[in-house]
Amino acid sequence: MGISDNAQALAYLVSAVLFILALKGLTHPSTARRGNYFGMLGMAIAIGATLMGNEVQSYGLIVTGVVIGGVIGAVLAARIQMTDMPQLVAALHSFVGMAAVLVAIGTFINRHAAGTLNPVLMAELSAGIIIGAITFSGSVIAFGKLQGLISGKPVLFKGQHLLNAALGVVIVLLGVHFAATGSMVSLVLMTLLSFAVGFTLIIPIGGADMPVIISMLNSYSGWAAAATGFTLHNNLLIIVGALVGFSGAILSYIMCRAMNRSILHVVFGGFGGESGGEASAVGQAAEKGVKSASVEDAVYWMEDANKVIIVPGYGMAVAQAQHALKELMELLEERGVEVKFAIHPVAGRMPGHMNVLLAEADIPYDHVFEMDEINPEFPTADVVLVVGANDVVNPAAKEDASSPIYGMPILEAGKAKQVFFLKRSMRPGYSGVDNLLFYQDNTSLIFGDAKDSIEGMVAALKGGGH
Ligand code: TAP
Repeated sequence: MGISDNAQALAYLVSAVLFILALKGLTHPSTARRGNYFGMLGMAIAIGATLMGNEVQSYGLIVTGVVIGGVIGAVLAARIQMTDMPQLVAALHSFVGMAAVLVAIGTFINRHAAGTLNPVLMAELSAGIIIGAITFSGSVIAFGKLQGLISGKPVLFKGQHLLNAALGVVIVLLGVHFAATGSMVSLVLMTLLSFAVGFTLIIPIGGADMPVIISMLNSYSGWAAAATGFTLHNNLLIIVGALVGFSGAILSYIMCRAMNRSILHVVFGGFGGESGGEASAVGQAAEKGVKSASVEDAVYWMEDANKVIIVPGYGMAVAQAQHALKELMELLEERGVEVKFAIHPVAGRMPGHMNVLLAEADIPYDHVFEMDEINPEFPTADVVLVVGANDVVNPAAKEDASSPIYGMPILEAGKAKQVFFLKRSMRPGYSGVDNLLFYQDNTSLIFGDAKDSIEGMVAALKGGGH
């Protein structure tokens, strides 16, 4: 029941256009849903056209694979917490990498038996294996770090960069040798060393740089898919691989800019360890102690305010406080208070994390501002409510040259008249760095789960109970 090659090519073209429209849709929260639908439709057409192609010889194994993979995927997607999404993404990248390696090796075995190998194909196979293997082991390490199975601290050892560079050169030489001679030994060594490089590249990367690494691995997985596309002569896979490869690379660049770090620094850095020495500003500030406040204190300040800026962070996601925040926003607006939300590009644990949660609570997009737009407004805000955010408002990034987050642009919450931090303890944020803003005169901490605290504020504003 095969369709002609031309019909398949046409279907692939339609899919490719739909994927591009999907990416375009995903650039803004208001069009993201439509973008997702375009992507789903594109994928359905792509799978349908592939299954109806002439190359498919039997459906038994394909259907079995789809059923097993589909069930595992559906269960995982239904059970995964929003806050664990980066780990899931890392795990999925590892599958793409492994698939690229297996397809390349499978193709080599088949074509070897048929005697139809040629140097161009062998070079494609080398590229697929190298990129795929690095993506696989790198993503496994990233998964382990994000899941807390491996320490998030950078693991650095002497001669690390030299080792990586040497391994890189050897792998390329083995790839060339394999393409030229078809040597099995080169194939096996190239594959094993590529797995090893994925490991040695990602293990030195510290927790705070993981977001960039995830998007870089996303990019690698795209290139691995594109290499597989060349091997299988599948144009759609080449197009989609290139789309993923480039969009991941662009996202990595944007995130690096948001953190004021160069991509080379991230790759070779080992950023995100413990913060600086005794003379650091954090050490001095710590001696000053911190002030704590009650929910009622915050309500008292906010009721009288002209402008309140809310800074959501990872803790808002953990507490699932977004719906309570919407209610708080409405109650304050009824009292004539201007309420705005300020989002840092790396707030939360994945790109757009905060936007998604605020959109889920139906907080209007025109209330939500990016860092560059909102930063000039902090000095005119009466109150800043920091809801489970920490690193993204830490002035150490500007003031403490010894801090590992030094140089990262921050939301300048400290410039408001009064800052309230909603968090459960004195624990630092993701980067493990103490927050200088805790010790500023105009800052008070309200300890407790963010959702409980916000619900307390809502109740107080409604005049019930608080
Ligand atoms: P963080 O700096 O991680 O701080 C989150 C804060 O939330 C913590 O200090 C924690 O303090 C508090 N918290 C946790 N659960 C809470 C709850 N139930 N109620 C109230 N507070 C709670 O978050 P951020 O400011 O959003 O910064 C993001 C960090 O993650 C950056 O360092 C960024 O580089 C990194 N990162 C980002 C991404 C992306 S792409 N966005 C991906 C991976 C990592 P307590 O424990 O004291 O409550």
